[in-house]
Amino acid sequence: MKNDPFDSLRTGHLSRRQAIRAFAGAAALIGCADDELGTTSTTGSGGGPGAGSSSASGAGGGASQSSSSGLGGAGGAGGAGGGDPLALCKVRGPTDGCMVTEDNILGPFYKAGAPFESDLAAGLDGELMLIQGTVFGCDCVTPLAGAIVDVWQADSDGAYDNAGFVLRGKIETDADGRYAFYTVKPGWYLNGAQYRPAHIHYKVSHADGVALTTQLYFEGDPYIPIDPFVKDSLVIPLAPGDVNGSQGLIGTFDVVLA
Ligand SMILES: [Fe+2]
Repeated sequence: MKNDPFDSLRTGHLSRRQAIRAFAGAAALIGCADDELGTTSTTGSGGGPGAGSSSASGAGGGASQSSSSGLGGAGGAGGAGGGDPLALCKVRGPTDGCMVTEDNILGPFYKAGAPFESDLAAGLDGELMLIQGTVFGCDCVTPLAGAIVDVWQADSDGAYDNAGFVLRGKIETDADGRYAFYTVKPGWYLNGAQYRPAHIHYKVSHADGVALTTQLYFEGDPYIPIDPFVKDSLVIPLAPGDVNGSQGLIGTFDVVLA
């Protein structure tokens, strides 16, 4: 199945643990253009390389809400012994050392109702990409099967399809919590007076996690250092490789839902 991005997952680059280590830092992706700015946003420019890969454990543990001695209702989580492995962290917050994926602004171009489609690149010009990853629950270990990953992005010229669903699609995670899709590298577009770095918008949802809106960025983009929305944990490296039978770029972005 040439057109099934999950094929490349089956060849398996990384184990679940590696994935966690590699992307524990990943947080929710954010949005883009000005108008939307209203929402969120952290500043964090800087997007230094390495954000995507590095180890997560300790790094900037700020994200993890940490321990919690105090939370009252923890009792309700009950027997973490056999049932829901996420029961405890759902009540107390992410497991120690586990960083939930950071969020990012929605942006003005989201459109509900995108079709389930994992080959967004079909018929389009641009640099082919395979983006893959795993969606985890709040312990950073339990994969979430059946999570919905809703992505949308600009084309290689920096334009969104606001009339239809080109470069918009949903992917459902498989039994191991994994998702993958083919696309083309998004182009830059002007946000006010300056360009936004290339990015892909994400909305990720699952019954066992808090729905997340975020954005994915790519190392080395010259506009990352001046973009007001980029968060380092949302920047991943891209490596050259075979993408659906052609030369392209491959990136991995794991998502941890709170
Ligand atoms: Fe955008």
